[in-house]
Amino acid sequence: MKALSTDHLLGIKYLKKEDINLIFETADHFKEVINRPIKKVPSLRDITIANLFFENSTRTKLSFELAEKRLSADIINFSAGQSSVKKGETLIDTVNNILSMKVDIVVMRHPNVGAGVFLSKHVNARIINAGDGAHEHPTQALLDSYSIREKLGSVKGKKIVIIGDILHSRVALSNIFALQLQGAKVKICGPTTLIPKFITSLGVEVETNLKKALEWCDVANVLRVQHERMDIKYFPSIREYTQLFGIDKALLDSLGKKIVIMHPGPINRGVEITSDVADSDQSIILNQVENGVAIRMAVIYLLAQQIKK
Ligand code: NCD
Repeated sequence: MKALSTDHLLGIKYLKKEDINLIFETADHFKEVINRPIKKVPSLRDITIANLFFENSTRTKLSFELAEKRLSADIINFSAGQSSVKKGETLIDTVNNILSMKVDIVVMRHPNVGAGVFLSKHVNARIINAGDGAHEHPTQALLDSYSIREKLGSVKGKKIVIIGDILHSRVALSNIFALQLQGAKVKICGPTTLIPKFITSLGVEVETNLKKALEWCDVANVLRVQHERMDIKYFPSIREYTQLFGIDKALLDSLGKKIVIMHPGPINRGVEITSDVADSDQSIILNQVENGVAIRMAVIYLLAQQIKK
């Protein structure tokens, strides 16, 4: 049986192209499963998973939980707001307490960059990074590429532009790594203040003119401005941001071709994208959400195969 080359999913940075292919093949199978009348398989009946969310989340948390339930795993949920973290407990103590309840896999979202890598070195469980600060969000990038492959047949050779707050986005970085590994061409577009200086060293091009970026691409992946990670002003006003980097129907229709619109959510309707664009037939935003469950089932299933009981 084929296996992943890694014990954890800490970032796309640590994956090989073969790993992505294997995750997609496995997700194809699970996508078929979740569209059956009985959406559940008994594969992980002996596996316990802890979902540790030290940062807010709606769809990622629900998507992981649903994926785990569809695989018949036992799950426990933890949100930092309601926990002893507020009383001063360290990350390792919190997690070791949970692991002593015999947990096999930890899914963790954390505001600090590298939290997953740190944990993987100190605790005895498989770690899945569900977002570490502004660093990586590997399952999001996997489901994004999977959705492009589903819509356009392949990722290789496709032109993808990632638009918006690149500086604070873990979705952007993981997407860049994943798309490049699969042979796509990637451009970044946004206000120069929200584009990190190192970005061109990753082999991506920067285009600050939104219209030009859209004319170039096959797919536009639109990101939310991450106000919660900002302690200074990066642009004068939301109104100006929308004028320069927001996508509306008139702009979309002026391109003379039908590009694919993606967004990881949560959408700020009327800011980075208007409702008629988000809900148009060019948008695959809800397909991304559906594919997220299949991708997370695949990742959890493949990591669980490596656990020796
Ligand atoms: C993203 C995240 O949390 O990084 N959302 C998600 O996982 N669906 C993007 C965002 O918050 O804007």
